[in-house]
Amino acid sequence: MIASAPAKVILFGEHAVVYGEPAIAVAIDMRTYVHAEKSEEYSVNGYPMNSRYHAYIKNAIDLCWEGEPLSIRTKSQIPSASGMGSSASITVATLTALLAMKKEIDEEKIAKMGFEVEYRTQGRASPIDTSTVTHGQGILVHKVKRENYLWKVEKNGVVWYIHHVKIPSLRLVVGFSGIKGSTREMVEKVRRFYSWNSFARDVIREIGRITLEALSPLQDEDYERIGELMTQDNKLLTILGVSHPMLKKMINVAMKHSYGAKLTGAGGGGSIIALTDEQDEVARAIEEVGGRAYKVSISKEGFRVENHF
Ligand code: MEV
Repeated sequence: MIASAPAKVILFGEHAVVYGEPAIAVAIDMRTYVHAEKSEEYSVNGYPMNSRYHAYIKNAIDLCWEGEPLSIRTKSQIPSASGMGSSASITVATLTALLAMKKEIDEEKIAKMGFEVEYRTQGRASPIDTSTVTHGQGILVHKVKRENYLWKVEKNGVVWYIHHVKIPSLRLVVGFSGIKGSTREMVEKVRRFYSWNSFARDVIREIGRITLEALSPLQDEDYERIGELMTQDNKLLTILGVSHPMLKKMINVAMKHSYGAKLTGAGGGGSIIALTDEQDEVARAIEEVGGRAYKVSISKEGFRVENHF
């Protein structure tokens, strides 16, 4: 069985979403492919399956597979630890392949299991990444149920309602710093700050406010305002301590040709996104300061069963 899932970028609300604040993310047109077949023993890309190196795949198998051992092969267009959701993508592609083998494919089920796998592997997580790469297009996560509601995820007293959100055709450039960011470490860093500092809690709430404010400019395709709000969100994320000098450098050069720019995902390395009409100029500027640029567009499709690997 072969399955795939896209990458994602968070437009607004990373980190704050872990504490129940809203977040908006889109699936982008880079994918991870997983090939799963029954075998004598568990292996990943020809190596014995290992809970350290193949944590997401192993946790996905532990959660939903009771059959014979599996040989898993993976192929990904998404750089790992880049803030583009490579772990959510491999998790959801693996779950899709396994559930397809069991003839139990269901969008909500994949998204919820995907969240569970990320939660177990990272120690703490929100459902934004896994829901986005499952559903495709745009996702709004919010503690209040709104229009275009899809499903609900609950963990340790936090409730997230997942919604489809219509996203205009945004021209985005992702700039990958080449520095791997650890989501687990960044989420833990923010947790420490959040638990002892009321200022950090105010910053998290402000990120939530900006995210909700972005909904109407997104609907109206008001790129200037979306860009301004992205830049404001980035300032708050920087205060939370999840930026990195290389991200700041890429944001500075991207801003010369963009409506706005921000770090995306967990930070501490990883990537930035810039909203722009001049994708080529932004991509060139990012590469000139040593980043790797990807001109991306939104992926309409989330998880998918494939015919070819
Ligand atoms: C990572 O892409 C997004 C974070 O908010 C963590 C999460 O929501 O699980 C940093």
